[in-house]
Amino acid sequence: MALIPIILIPDPVLRKVASPVAEITDGTRQLLDDMAETMYDAPGIGLAAPQVNISERIIVMDCGRDEEPELYKMINPEIIASSQERSVLEEGCLSIPNQTADVERPAHVDVRYLDVDGNEQMLHCEGLLAACVQHEIDHLDGVLFIDHISRLKRDMIVRKALKDLRHAAGRG
Ligand code: NI
Repeated sequence: MALIPIILIPDPVLRKVASPVAEITDGTRQLLDDMAETMYDAPGIGLAAPQVNISERIIVMDCGRDEEPELYKMINPEIIASSQERSVLEEGCLSIPNQTADVERPAHVDVRYLDVDGNEQMLHCEGLLAACVQHEIDHLDGVLFIDHISRLKRDMIVRKALKDLRHAAGRG
């Protein structure tokens, strides 16, 4: 297992549409393990492969509590149904450090994906898990949570994030 550096805005890989995984190999499984380790280390509750500079449709998530971890490894995930009901949750992103915003999304979604053995799985998601899976699948389409908020707020968040990153770089 190994930690992988997390890609930050404004890197263009975060805006690319990621390719479907055609064949699940030991390399895919290794990547999923490394992504999970990187996510827990950050710490975060979700990570998409483009955030580690790999433009493939792969995500990991764990929205469980510390006492009850609940790790999902998803290959080629797709939202196949979304509720009419919507909910608002505060979101952040490991690629946009230290910034959060309230994001409105469908409250429940059904997701279809392949597990690490290539078996098709379905998952009904509600609450934090629903927001998280939509946020991570967005990453696979080059979409960031800031695309779901007003332009004014988005510009402010990007400006603050880039300023923070410049300061961090300056400190070495
Ligand atoms: Ni994110």
